[in-house]
Amino acid sequence: MAFPRRPSAFLRYLIPGALILIGLYALAGPSDLLVTVPTPWRHRYAAGEHPIDWLIKVAEKDFDQKLARESHTLAEAAAAYRKRRGRHPPPGFDKWFEFAQEKEAVIVEDFWDQIYHDLEPFWALPAGRIRKDAWNFEMQINIRNGNATSGSDWFWTKIWLKMIKTFDHLLPDMDLALNAMDEPRMVVPWEQVDEYMRLAHKTRHMARPRDVVSEFSTLPPPGQGPEKDLETPAKEWEGEKHYWLIAQRGCHPKSLARQSPVITNFDTTPLIKSSFALQHMQDGYVWNYTLSTDFCHQSDLQALEGVFVEPLSTSATKVLFPMFGGSKLAVNNEILLPAPMYWNEEERFMGSEGADIPWEEKKDGVIWRGVATGGKNRENNWKSFQRHRFVAMNNATKLNLAETRQMDPVNFALPPKQYGLKAQQATVGALGQWVDKWSDVGFVDLMCGYKGQGKHCNYTDPHYEVMEGMKMAKQFQNKYLPDIDGNSFSGRYLGFLRSTSLPIKATLWREWHDSRLVAWKHFVPMDSRFGDWYGIMEYFLGNAAAELKGHDEVARKIAMNGKDWAAKVLRKEDMQVYVLRLLLEYARVSDERREVMGWVGDLVKGELAP
Ligand SMILES: *[C@@H]1O[C@H](CO)[C@@H](O)[C@H](O)[C@H]1NC(C)=O
Ligand SMILES: *[C@@H]1O[C@H](CO)[C@@H](O)[C@H](O)[C@H]1NC(C)=O
Ligand SMILES: *[C@@H]1O[C@H](CO)[C@@H](O)[C@H](O)[C@H]1NC(C)=O
Ligand SMILES: *[C@@H]1O[C@H](CO)[C@@H](O)[C@H](O)[C@H]1NC(C)=O
Repeated sequence: MAFPRRPSAFLRYLIPGALILIGLYALAGPSDLLVTVPTPWRHRYAAGEHPIDWLIKVAEKDFDQKLARESHTLAEAAAAYRKRRGRHPPPGFDKWFEFAQEKEAVIVEDFWDQIYHDLEPFWALPAGRIRKDAWNFEMQINIRNGNATSGSDWFWTKIWLKMIKTFDHLLPDMDLALNAMDEPRMVVPWEQVDEYMRLAHKTRHMARPRDVVSEFSTLPPPGQGPEKDLETPAKEWEGEKHYWLIAQRGCHPKSLARQSPVITNFDTTPLIKSSFALQHMQDGYVWNYTLSTDFCHQSDLQALEGVFVEPLSTSATKVLFPMFGGSKLAVNNEILLPAPMYWNEEERFMGSEGADIPWEEKKDGVIWRGVATGGKNRENNWKSFQRHRFVAMNNATKLNLAETRQMDPVNFALPPKQYGLKAQQATVGALGQWVDKWSDVGFVDLMCGYKGQGKHCNYTDPHYEVMEGMKMAKQFQNKYLPDIDGNSFSGRYLGFLRSTSLPIKATLWREWHDSRLVAWKHFVPMDSRFGDWYGIMEYFLGNAAAELKGHDEVARKIAMNGKDWAAKVLRKEDMQVYVLRLLLEYARVSDERREVMGWVGDLVKGELAP
């Protein structure tokens, strides 16, 4: 079995170059490039092996390797920390470990990667500036003497406060600035982040154990605030509605996102070409899920995702400051906390009821109900919204019209022939008939850009039916649950994972739990263009009319793996363990003495030293 190799240095330059050419070509040309460009890491398939079979094997191996790195003792956890982070663990690490063990958490250092990704640039900012910026912000949680409080009673803050209060006795003094909006707000230019990372790297070292300070500093009461005279840079909030213009500065200057022409007209059928997905796909399916959620190499997404076209609200800054939030795009600089709805376990997202229906009792079907969110949809931009695209792709009438060339699709593309779908090889119109057998997808509210139309909308009504809402418990009667981003990340994901159905996820959003889930092991990843959607469903369901067998057992297994794993590492206890670790790190990076602070209990006592 061959595993994908990283492209060589030569290819690393060649691929972006080639992609730019392909991108330009794709913008101009009608041909689809899925197979005409060879991927540099071709896998040799055994007879009858499907690309998804192979991706699942890779995922299993990946996951086993992760689990093999589990730490069972404090000394092991500290050693894993030093190896992966290049610093001593923060003060309080022993208390954290004890807490994690009490909560029966699986301790694999990789699970906290997101924390280090989020916090690393802050090592380049003066600690005083971090403290002052946090304390200055409009919405805060303050911790003093092991007591977390907040002056704000905004509902998200209250939920986060409730969570933090469950372990505030373990926390040093600190102030947390919280993002009150749905949308992430910080996009520090790539060049600036790169410079911060360089400076941060210089602070990475391990002080001699006997020089290490193991106490956090204390802060004055929140009312007084730290270092009154310290200047902090103005945030200069930008309200630019065309968020692509803001988001793209977080990408590498040579990336497609920075190099490609900016699209400003969203009143036409968007270009949907799988060539933009080549870097993260293998033979038509997502093989690097993390990369698939990064849009910097996918400049076409500027016209395929509502968030780039026009988010509900924008208030963005280029200035790095320590703001916490529940989700973000790959380029945003917020510090992630678990989203409040996950802590609250709201029924409309979680649907605990029905989550245990046995697989055998479920329909071989796909269900999706949702609101036409994604941003502010309008008469002249809705065709670029992801939920609108997905719902259209599951509409047999539209598919039929497109296949028989009676009407071109207005916001999607028929799947490239390279997927070799049985339904496309049969009679014209068979794709629509086949999809109709298993798909039940529709909007419950069209969220019209004009006021006074209720759930309806004069410009999308001709294209979409307004359907009745459906309880999660009823949705769980289906085996397959696609999960499509709304205004930001999709809040139902955790509920889907915890259920006995199989989530099929396309997203651009990052969340706290990303490094503890493995695509194709715990869920099925899907490209943001959804070009792989029918291929995925054909793999699982087969096509009876064409005598093609599906992989029901494989689907069941991934659904159960996801459920079991969620019950181990996505519990409320795991959120506590994550946030406690995060806040110890945050307190250290905000402390004047941060470079000599740490926990070295294993090294100084000697008895645990390696
Ligand atoms: C925490 O602070 C709040 C507000 O000042 C106060 O009402 C509460 O009693 C304090 N709790 C503890 C445990 O000190
Ligand atoms: C997947 O993409 C990420 C993010 O770009 C990268 O860091 C990682 O090395 C890639 N994984 C593999 C297996 O190539
Ligand atoms: C929808 O209604 C708005 C406001 O009433 C109007 O300006 C617009 O032209 C209408 N669009 C269509 C497609 O009917
Ligand atoms: C499917 O498409 C047809 C034609 O565009 C439309 O009339 C119908 O409402 C759509 N169905 C759904 C469920 O959106």
